[in-house]
Order: sequence, then structure tokens, then C-alpha cells
Amino acid sequence: MSKTNQVIDAILERRSIRKFTAEPVSRDDLSIILEAGRWAPSGLNNQPYRFLVLYDDDARVDPLAECTKYGHIVKEAKALICIFLDREATYNEMKDHQGAGACIQNMMLAAHSLGLGSVWLGEIINQQDQVLEVLDVSSDRYELQVVIALGHPDGQGSSKRNELSEYMLEDF
Ligand SMILES: Cc1cc2nc3c(=O)[nH]c(=O)nc-3n(C[C@H](O)[C@H](O)[C@H](O)COP(=O)(O)O)c2cc1C
Repeated sequence: MSKTNQVIDAILERRSIRKFTAEPVSRDDLSIILEAGRWAPSGLNNQPYRFLVLYDDDARVDPLAECTKYGHIVKEAKALICIFLDREATYNEMKDHQGAGACIQNMMLAAHSLGLGSVWLGEIINQQDQVLEVLDVSSDRYELQVVIALGHPDGQGSSKRNELSEYMLEDF
């Protein structure tokens, strides 16, 4: 790609990180990450997502790890951001989920830009009821979208993408 800038670099360089060093994630960095999520686009600007942060010494981390086959990543993380949709703020199922995705990606790019690693833990939402119980969050009102595991990267991630031509319905 000929033109680039910090945003493009962050998008292209971010990889899922599943191993973290012992260094804690600072509250300042978490504030910036949450702010990046807050400024995600949402349908009708309804901002239906809600956040819960767990540090690694939180008593809920171990029971949360029991909710997913990726529990080792939950335990390894130095901080976890749980993102929910608030049913009292939603208006359209597909658009609210799309908004949550934008929010999640904003946070992961912000984390990357701060030198942190993160991974989107989606498998855990299959155990929705168990997670909400462990977190003591109302299942009538909230729907879990993701748990983002965060920490200082212990090594690099790697992944591949298909060729652009495979995504295109028509040449451009
Ligand atoms: C909706 C969604 C769910 C995901 N769930 C998990 C998960 O449960 N566990 C995990 O380790 N990674 C999960 N990932 C991360 C993907 O495996 C990862 O983004 C993909 O392999 C591409 O790698 P990259 O992020 O390093 O480019 C998920 C990603 C998305 C978008």
C-alpha cells in the first residue's frame, strides 16, 4: 500500500494476543480504551453497549474462566473488558450487534496503539447465562457480547487473510 498513517498501520498490524507478561494494565490505559469504545458509531447514536472491567485480582476471574474453553486466556489476562448490550437501550437487533462490533474493534485498536495486546473472546457468549450469573449481571436486561482479554504482549501474534480479490464481488 503506498499511502499510510498511524490509523492504517494500527489496523494492519493488530493481531490477536493470547499470552501476556506479568506487567499490569494501568487504569489510565483502560480509560483510553473505554473512551475509544464510547466513541464508536452506533445506529441512531443509541450507544447500547455497557462495560464491566475486571482486573486480574478480581474474585470473579476464576469462575469466569470456567465458562469458556478459552479459560486459560481469561486467567492469563491482566484485565478483562466485558461488553454487554443493554436491552433498555437497543432498537434493532442487527444494528445493535453491529454497533457492539464497532465498539469492540475500536477498543482493540486503541489497546494496540498503546502497546497492549488483546483478544476478542467470543466463544464465551455461548455460555451466556453462566457468565451473567458469575458476574452478577441481570440477564433480563443485559446480553453479553464479548470478553476482551488485555495485557502487555508476551510475543507476537500471527494470522493471515485471503487475497482482496476473493472478497470482491466485482473488480473496482
Ligand atoms: C466474533 C469473534 C469471536 C472470536 N472468538 C474468539 C475466541 O473465543 N477465542 C479466541 O482465542 N479468539 C477469538 N477470536 C479471535 C479470532 O480468532 C482472530 O481475530 C482471527 O483468528 C484473526 O486473527 P487476528 O485477530 O490475529 O488477525 C474471535 C474473533 C471474533 C471477531
